[in-house]
Amino acid sequence: MEVVTTIAEARSRRQLDREEGRSVAFVPTMGALHAGHLALVRRARELGRCVWVSIFVNPTQFGPSEDFERYPRDLAGDSALLRSERVDVVFAPPVTELYPRPPVVRVAFPGLDDVLCGAQRAGHFAGVGLVVAKLFNIVQPDVAVFGQKDAQQALLIQRLTADLDFPVAVEVVPTVREADGLALSSRNAYLSADERRASTALYRALHRGREAVEAGERDPARIEAVMADEIASEPLLRLEYARCVGADDLASPPDATRGPLLLAVAARAGTTRLIDNLPVRRPGP
Ligand code: PAJ
Repeated sequence: MEVVTTIAEARSRRQLDREEGRSVAFVPTMGALHAGHLALVRRARELGRCVWVSIFVNPTQFGPSEDFERYPRDLAGDSALLRSERVDVVFAPPVTELYPRPPVVRVAFPGLDDVLCGAQRAGHFAGVGLVVAKLFNIVQPDVAVFGQKDAQQALLIQRLTADLDFPVAVEVVPTVREADGLALSSRNAYLSADERRASTALYRALHRGREAVEAGERDPARIEAVMADEIASEPLLRLEYARCVGADDLASPPDATRGPLLLAVAARAGTTRLIDNLPVRRPGP
């Protein structure tokens, strides 16, 4: 496994892969890797001859009062995990390498980046769009793998590649969960034991929402109320949102008759922000 930290090294390694006819499957991450990230790496292994993983805690996607400084960082532990997954290249640049001066460009997604998590985190997705565009230009992967865990992010990246004609196929991998349903997240490391127990209410809420859809409930407001109630019943959680939207366009309310739905929730446990979602099909007629 090769660890590269500069854009120049990454480009020359990519050039070598191209000359020798090796396709590249790429997994962008912010490190503090867990089994959710590794599911993406394994999917990448199936999709490309060479697997590249980036580890970069991207400052432009954190708000001024968010956790950029305290975000967990463990390059040694991450490298060991990736080596055991037979990853070929890790791109782990310092902040000054990707941002030698403050960037003026942001990638906006009007209508899609100001709903759900975007409504709570102003500028977040513009920073994600910027760094993913930069990483795609540096790594030039054939395919890039993202997690359903961040459903809104995955949708925006699909739009980014389509609208800007990046020659990159985007693959989305289902959410990996703990046995009790909690979606794996690097931020789970912040939770106290009590908060960790309380956090299972997010998945329970999604489940109850799905049951309501499957039982024929068509009113998105009622589905949202079922999910919100479940989270409100947990005193250690503070609800940010519980939504039932169109899975393909995040429309709220979703189209009344057509297309898959996305149930999405966000809540805080203390200062830790937790998100989860479940794509659901509508029951047949
Ligand atoms: P990060 O939070 O490290 O996540 C990297 C990738 O892992 C994302 O595609 C995310 O959706 C996926 N992932 C996280 N937890 C998962 C889980 N439990 N199951 C399946 N996939 C999971 O997302 C980012 O980093 C950044 O925004 C990034 C895209 C790297 C841009 O900076």
